[in-house]
Amino acid sequence: MKKILIIYGPRGGYTEHVADTLKMELSKKFDAKSLPGTMVSLSTFNEYDNIIIGVATLGNDSWNAGRQDMDVNQIQVILNRFDFSRKKVALFGLGNSILYPEHFCDDMGIIEDILQKKNAEIIGYTSTYDYSFKESKALRDNQLCGLALDNDTENEKTEARISAWIDAVTIEFLK
Ligand SMILES: Cc1cc2nc3c(=O)[nH]c(=O)nc-3n(C[C@H](O)[C@H](O)[C@H](O)COP(=O)(O)O)c2cc1C
Repeated sequence: MKKILIIYGPRGGYTEHVADTLKMELSKKFDAKSLPGTMVSLSTFNEYDNIIIGVATLGNDSWNAGRQDMDVNQIQVILNRFDFSRKKVALFGLGNSILYPEHFCDDMGIIEDILQKKNAEIIGYTSTYDYSFKESKALRDNQLCGLALDNDTENEKTEARISAWIDAVTIEFLK
């Protein structure tokens, strides 16, 4: 069975909940593990070729402003340290498209930029169909660079979005 590591931050909210849901669903076909950032050491991380990274966006440009959240800090450390050559990475992001329509899930896009420069193979892009934000750093042409979720105001769409994304990334991870 192929191994998948789901690493996420912060914990205690929707981000953790989605990470746990993904782990549960992906465990049907993979040896999947879900851990908050601080629970992942650099050497553990290196053991995985298939990785999912999930973060909540918590403020305009907070990614570069020195975060307080320890789990997200550790994700930043890992992103800075690793060369992602030969690693397949899928992203998910939590945001709020009504309160932050010009920065919807920005941090997912910031992570994708870093991963591109570090030679990762990014999978799991999604359509913007049925989203209502105006701007996002996670936009790539007409697609979002991962699974963007707004559990604050579009909770009713989350289950279907997760399910469709799992189907798509499963095919990619199995290749
Ligand atoms: C202080 C603060 C700033 C936020 N800034 C953004 C933002 O810039 N863009 C966005 O899409 N969502 C933003 N959000 C919404 C969160 O990403 C959303 O509520 C998410 O579900 C929080 O993650 P959690 O449920 O795992 O705690 C912000 C939330 C807070 C509390």
